[in-house]
Amino acid sequence: MASPVAPVAPDTVLVVDFGAQYAQLIARRVREARVYSEIVPSTMPVAEILARKPAAVILSGGPSSVYEPGAPGLDRSLFEAGVPVFGMCYGFQLMATALGGTVDNTGAREYGRTALAVAKPGSTLFEGTPAEQTVWMSHGDACSAAPEGFTVTASTDLVPVAAFENDELRLYGVQYHPEVLHTVHGQQILEHFLYRGAGLTPTWTTENVVEEQVALIRAQVGTRRAICGLSGGVDSAVAAALVHKAIGDRLTCVYVDHGLMRKGETEQVEKDFVAATGVRLKVVDASERFLAALAGVSDPEQKRKIIGREFIRVFEQAQAEIVAEAPGDEPVEFLVQGTLYPDVVESGGGTGTANIKSHHNVGGLPDDLQFELVEPLRKLFKDEVRMVGQELGLPEEIVHRQPFPGPGLGIRIVGEVTRERLDLLREADAIAREELTAAGLDRDIWQCPVVLLADVRSVGVQGDGRTYGHPIVLRPVSSEDAMTADWSRLPYDVLARISTRITNEVKDVNRVVLDVTSKPPGTIEWE
Ligand code: XMP
Repeated sequence: MASPVAPVAPDTVLVVDFGAQYAQLIARRVREARVYSEIVPSTMPVAEILARKPAAVILSGGPSSVYEPGAPGLDRSLFEAGVPVFGMCYGFQLMATALGGTVDNTGAREYGRTALAVAKPGSTLFEGTPAEQTVWMSHGDACSAAPEGFTVTASTDLVPVAAFENDELRLYGVQYHPEVLHTVHGQQILEHFLYRGAGLTPTWTTENVVEEQVALIRAQVGTRRAICGLSGGVDSAVAAALVHKAIGDRLTCVYVDHGLMRKGETEQVEKDFVAATGVRLKVVDASERFLAALAGVSDPEQKRKIIGREFIRVFEQAQAEIVAEAPGDEPVEFLVQGTLYPDVVESGGGTGTANIKSHHNVGGLPDDLQFELVEPLRKLFKDEVRMVGQELGLPEEIVHRQPFPGPGLGIRIVGEVTRERLDLLREADAIAREELTAAGLDRDIWQCPVVLLADVRSVGVQGDGRTYGHPIVLRPVSSEDAMTADWSRLPYDVLARISTRITNEVKDVNRVVLDVTSKPPGTIEWE
């Protein structure tokens, strides 16, 4: 039996997902406008969407054509419920067809930057924006007649109806993608829908998020205790800081130092994180154990498995110790995880709690760990997690840390992992990071793995002598979400400084090479 649908929080905008990338971006843009949003799948019946009592609904774009057999549809009752609706691209065409407008498969394809002519400059959507503006189009079908009662407010050379509005019914649509940055006034148009069309106010802030989550965590954990695995990454750090704010010393954090961390990382957790939060921390130095288990292993998948397995063992041991240290206290029943909203949406379509990748942040804890999960970030995007971290007073170096894989430098050594090689890679990585920071490039790149090709040697010359050393690979990439990436065009002088310093200062390295591959076909990490 279906469980009754709980209403969303007041003033929530639901984004109906007709194409995942678009829907996530729209949800983020709505939140950038300080209005809370959630994503629901296009398979959700309209009755259920309405039962959640959203303040407004946005229909995303998607790859389908309304004429394709089996293309996702939409019941027109959505438009008769008095809820403000904004359709974008595919969502716009669905809206047009459902309400009696005409969408033709005319072959009028538009793709990329397109000039939009605004026909009604003072309209709800276009008020205060230029009469001609650049928008991002991506469609094959075109709307030739708006539904009855709607005003056509913009067009392009190829599309007579590129935007329509009906203030009485509070229904709006645009053929283009306001959510992408190439659409010059996109955010303004979206905000006009939210504030003017739907009458919402920009009140959603990270301050509210912190307050709300602290209350929820207190309600969930009560007087019992929780543990949290810290990986050194931003997600687990922010999740831990939030839970600590809520339940104080009833949270214990566990940091497993597997010896595969970057230079200064363990100290950052031990000192800076503890200083900023006052959290109770248990550090387990397990580097000997990990190195012993990795001895002789070169295969990346095998390395990952070994690191995952050892991590679980050490974590379980630490957990038993925490319980043993204070046996009289309330039971340790909760495990804090830094699961983010994209993981939730991607694994369950945003529909509920089913099938969630809940273990990705702490190096893969097993399902049979007997804990209830506390996941205070499961409604947040990565950039919002950083803002919450800032709000909680975490240091910059933690909040704006680049993503770093759970198995650490273990997978950035191509070949066997040894202590000497780790020390060497740590030095090279520290130099690259130092120079990128000094050049002010940290926020321009998504991350810059530094990789040691331990199984490769080549001839070089240093001082008066011939060398036979290893190459170091620099892999700077730009990305929005790590799903796709491009290689970063770093200034030559910065690359030159990094190269000179690494070859001068790091023993056994006689070359530095730059990876100029996008993802796909390459991945970000080498392994
Ligand atoms: P790839 O190499 O697949 O990496 O392009 C995509 C992103 O994921 C990070 N990554 C990991 N993060 N545990 C993590 O927490 C892992 O095992 C792991 N492997 C890769 C990688 O750094 C990049 O940001």
